Amino acid sequence: MKNKSLVSINDYSVEEILYILKLASYFEKNPIQPLMQDKVIASLFFEPSTRTRLSFETAMGRLGAKIIGFTDSSSSSTTKGESIKDTIRMVSNYADLIVMRHSLEGSVRYASEQSSVPVINAGDGANQHPTQTLLDLYSIQKTQGRLDNLKIFLVGDLKYGRTVHSLLIALSLFNPEFYFVAPEELSLPKEYKLFLQRKGITFYEDVEMNNLDKADILYMTRVQKERFSDPMEYERVKNAYVLRNSMLNKTKDNMRVLHPLPRVNEIDTDVDSNPKAYYFQQAENGVYTRMAIISAIMGLSLT
Ligand code: CP
Repeated sequence: MKNKSLVSINDYSVEEILYILKLASYFEKNPIQPLMQDKVIASLFFEPSTRTRLSFETAMGRLGAKIIGFTDSSSSSTTKGESIKDTIRMVSNYADLIVMRHSLEGSVRYASEQSSVPVINAGDGANQHPTQTLLDLYSIQKTQGRLDNLKIFLVGDLKYGRTVHSLLIALSLFNPEFYFVAPEELSLPKEYKLFLQRKGITFYEDVEMNNLDKADILYMTRVQKERFSDPMEYERVKNAYVLRNSMLNKTKDNMRVLHPLPRVNEIDTDVDSNPKAYYFQQAENGVYTRMAIISAIMGLSLT
């Protein structure tokens, strides 16, 4: 993985995924490791972000790297018509590593092909969010003590949800049983179902949040307004699911509620104080996991 871009979760083998999780655990215990004082990392966010950008920049800061970049592409020369290709060719002359988010599916793969330094995908449209997946796996491993043979409920926007797409690919390495809950309009795209069928992985589909008592992980997602071209369609499905505290009463003790965040209405705030709510710790795990990803790609020697 040294000097290799991370564009899709498919870029990592199961051994590489487990190595990142082990490194993340090391960084959770040793969060200040200024090993990159002579390095520059570019943080290019063409699309809005709170957690991904700030946890990446915290990770970069704790590793001692200098950070360049932008949080809003309107402050870059993109507004003058500069192409992704030219932007990336320039930035890869300035930085040792690029972290990039863009609304266009495939844009980060394209950027990695133009770049002379590794590129990390911080989310490309509805396609992939591999670093979110690694922090999700870290969170699942921490809360369940294992990754294999778990019953995973994925709820909400399964059509456009890039976190769902990356996560189901990664979890398919660990013999899961999936329960997909989505309105018809936002159901999981056919290519992902074919992928699971080819791998012989059991999955069930429902439009209601039934059988929560079976869940080890309940992964809620937001219906993403920004992915809809038709505002009326968004209005129809935006409040399809709302998780309330009372709905957790009969769930297993080990069950944890995850959400990549931000949430809108899909988890009522009355869930936040339930010990089964894990989404804020999950977001914190992003710092350790992203320190691990950066250090693995940069080939850092840990003390
Ligand atoms: N989970 C996630 O990608 O959050 P942000 O959009 O705030 O980065």
